[in-house]
Amino acid sequence: MEETDNLETEERKFRPPDDFVKNANINDPEIYRKADEDLEAFWRGLAEEIKWFRGFDSVLEWEPPHAKWFTGGKLNASYNCLDANIEKRGDKLAIIWEGENRDIRKYTYGELLEETSRLANVLKGMGVKKGDIVTIYLPMIPEIIISMLACARIGAPHSVVFAAFSGEALCTRIADAQSDLVITCDGYYRRGKLVEQKKKADCGLTSCIKVQKVVVVKNTKNDIEMREGRDVWWHDLMRDAGTVCEPEVMDSEDMLFLMYTSGTTGKPKGIVHSTGGYMVGTHVTAKWIFDLKDDDIYWCTADCGWITGHSYIVYGPLSNGTTVLMYEGAPDYPEKDRFWDIVERHKATILYTAPTAIRTFMKWGNKWPAKHDLSTLRLLGSVGEPINPDAWLWYHENIGSGRCPIVDTWWQTETGMVLISPLPGITTTKPGSATLPFPGIRATVLDENGNEMPPGKDGLLAITRPWPSMVRTIHGDEERFIETYWTKWDRNTYFAGDGAKLDEEGYFRISGRVDDVIQVSGHRIGTEEVESLLVSHPSVAEAGVVGKSDEIKGEVIYGYVILRSGLSGDNELKNELIDHVASNIGPFARPKRIIFSEELPKTRSGKIMRRVLKAIANGRETGDVTTLQDPGVVEELKRRTEENGLI
Ligand code: PRX
Repeated sequence: MEETDNLETEERKFRPPDDFVKNANINDPEIYRKADEDLEAFWRGLAEEIKWFRGFDSVLEWEPPHAKWFTGGKLNASYNCLDANIEKRGDKLAIIWEGENRDIRKYTYGELLEETSRLANVLKGMGVKKGDIVTIYLPMIPEIIISMLACARIGAPHSVVFAAFSGEALCTRIADAQSDLVITCDGYYRRGKLVEQKKKADCGLTSCIKVQKVVVVKNTKNDIEMREGRDVWWHDLMRDAGTVCEPEVMDSEDMLFLMYTSGTTGKPKGIVHSTGGYMVGTHVTAKWIFDLKDDDIYWCTADCGWITGHSYIVYGPLSNGTTVLMYEGAPDYPEKDRFWDIVERHKATILYTAPTAIRTFMKWGNKWPAKHDLSTLRLLGSVGEPINPDAWLWYHENIGSGRCPIVDTWWQTETGMVLISPLPGITTTKPGSATLPFPGIRATVLDENGNEMPPGKDGLLAITRPWPSMVRTIHGDEERFIETYWTKWDRNTYFAGDGAKLDEEGYFRISGRVDDVIQVSGHRIGTEEVESLLVSHPSVAEAGVVGKSDEIKGEVIYGYVILRSGLSGDNELKNELIDHVASNIGPFARPKRIIFSEELPKTRSGKIMRRVLKAIANGRETGDVTTLQDPGVVEELKRRTEENGLI
């Protein structure tokens, strides 16, 4: 088993404060026993919180590895987020949006329903039908939420592509989804600098001939080219659109959305999520884990381009009628206290962010949060990567003033909802641990052969019972779905791709990916995606890419490159390769270092052993290298890694 990065041990434990327990949505530990005893009864009861047009016939049909949840049930996700709140909360704010330039836009539930219905009518008018996949390529502006909900309203699954992805990455995803309508915008600002989104989209779209229509939001008003017959302005379409649109009646198992994520091959996987199970799972976890109350101002700093934004900005919180705070820009614009300034001005009560951000704030120093009144905060959350105890404690003390419980939530694009996390009114937390499985979830730590690992021993995280919002398949690649998640042990046991260990009290410590996925600032990047881009450069013959642990970002990308014969590498070429990757995937995938080498560690059959490369990059023992074609390569690579430390 690969050695996992050691989180320093921290012995302190934190009990939820008494007043928090008293008022918490869930504060009776019995819930764990009840859920475990009768899984179906547990989820049946919770499914009642969702509005169904037709009740479901059965809770779970489990034919490993295929689950169907709430079969026979009919519902609509946008109805649950909007219409279901109108009577009680029509005038309540659904979204408070703040732009990087401090523009503020607010939508009540009533207004959000109206805008969503208009866009739904527009899309229908453009010929979008139930089952057609619509691609959304928008930054963090309210239109991204309106677009998602409008798609859900008419039964057209959305595929949101993170705005910072390149046009090429957009095109790959459009092609895989067979999407013929894209929603994008002219541009957006990041740290005051214009990002020409439409231009990026156009680059990608040149090779996506299937795309018939592009709806363009006027956001920054920069000059763009509108292609005759294909591109249409959002505001022109919305002007005369009807404000009422009946929600499509969807089957519980109908696809709500597709979300592309990186896997161990170069091709991203289109993770398919259902409607009923996903809505129940995200609704309940949002309510229990974030302890959502009617007067909360809830801020999740993720981007709607990733699963966290889908589940815990849009579907979970809105189906609970929560006021969601949404920020467009960077945490250090114009100054390093922007987040705390936002918390103070909008009186945020819940903050859900990523360990990379927390570590960055730590580095910037206490003076930035100290300038602001953060006393409205009552709960803090963390997601996306392991949080080291130091960062946890800093977050607890400097942001939460020692009084806010922290929920370290473990989950994935594939799980749709949080599976391992504290319940803030029940769980005693330990810094660096995501604590315990959510009620009804069974998780464990296994070795390669499926044996349970004793406490304290590193193993692989496994989920051993189905849950409502689980991935249903990989779009167009059922074989890969089974192969990736359900063949490691048996077809009842989900392989998460993460390393983990348990402590004596059954608390989970998750150490990060054990497969060929790198988690950079919580963004999932496949090693092969980066490798295939490197070798597409005319100077590169071969490339091996691995994650190197990093104090701030969790992991950074190291690329080991063999140049074509006759070429010698210099810093200029290194920078060119780094830019080549960044411009073809997106800036978040920029390799930290490129190391030129004559050879890579390979097996006798010529396969690159990333395990060995990863150990070298991380300055760890390489373990057994006798199966290498040329074990001598290890020393050479170690030397080069040290020498090349500077770029
Ligand atoms: O390695 C785990 C890490 O993020 C991976 C999932 O990435 P993605 O599908 O992009 O979803 C991220 C947001 C849910 C996991 O396999 N991860 C996520 N949350 C945690 C975590 N690692 C440790 N602790 C967490 N709380």
